[in-house]
Amino acid sequence: MNNAIKRIGLLTSGGDAPGMNAAIRAVVRTAKANNIDVVGVLYGLEGLIQASFIELNEESVAHIIHTGGTILHTSRSPAFRQLEGMKTAAHNLKEKQIDALIVIGGDGTFSAMHEFNQHFPMPIIGIPGTIDKDLSGTDVTLGFDTAVNTAMYAIDKIRDTAESHDRVFFVEVMGRDAGYIALDAGIATGAEAILIPETTTYIDQLIALLETGWKRKKRCHIIIVAEGDDAGGAIKIAEQVQLKFKAIDTRVSILGHIQRGGSPTAFDRVLGTRFGVKAVELVKNQEFGMMVALSGVKIVAVPLEKAVSALKTVD
Ligand code: F6P
Repeated sequence: MNNAIKRIGLLTSGGDAPGMNAAIRAVVRTAKANNIDVVGVLYGLEGLIQASFIELNEESVAHIIHTGGTILHTSRSPAFRQLEGMKTAAHNLKEKQIDALIVIGGDGTFSAMHEFNQHFPMPIIGIPGTIDKDLSGTDVTLGFDTAVNTAMYAIDKIRDTAESHDRVFFVEVMGRDAGYIALDAGIATGAEAILIPETTTYIDQLIALLETGWKRKKRCHIIIVAEGDDAGGAIKIAEQVQLKFKAIDTRVSILGHIQRGGSPTAFDRVLGTRFGVKAVELVKNQEFGMMVALSGVKIVAVPLEKAVSALKTVD
């Protein structure tokens, strides 16, 4: 074992994602098994500026694998984007004698860390955690599977009431720039249409689809709308459709942050664990500037630069 790294910092940043706790648990336990101390940074990158540190050990991460959210808390930190904020963070890391950082987050977090590294070189390993799955370099991100399942269960329930009342439901799911959640949740629930940011939404085309159904006495439709769709959110789209097609009875349901919380699926618990173990292996081997990733069925390491090079969107 290479003993150069004695103490690592661990943080979660940006939007939380189910499975982050599983990753935290795996990092702490694998590090401890290799005689590496772990300092938890509270509230993400903001915690680096505020010097919000806690010591983590095997017990601190007991019974968290099944919980959603992140025990380390999280935030989005505009201050970390400023040179002054980065300077304070670098100073605090030095004071706390942190040799390397494991960062769990998404695109925003990794690009902020990438910039930080240009000014204040710091050995970093990334773990992809975002429900949006919009990070390049990995097949999937932590939390996506749980979010899709949460959306699916909610949409199934909406289908029951939509069917009973002969209604057209516009269900908005998360996804500001990428339509992955909308796509998978829509396929899994047999949605009649899926509207995503990556494709142009034509309201007339949507109305034509509803009219075709209407003619053959089909009254219940579920339209999934990704929040970042080019035609607007579900409310705006439903209004336009209702205005032009008065016979139908429309309702809107915005699933919102329920997609971010909740107990992670088995897939996300296992993925978080595998990501966490791999991240510590990279620390041990001093392979820094990398992000752990899923490629097929294998856990691999890809340069962090690749992850932030371009937002991944639906092909
Ligand atoms: O974490 C990603 C995400 O859930 C996006 O899908 C969504 O647009 C955004 O975060 C919401 O962010 P906030 O927590 O700031 O409301």
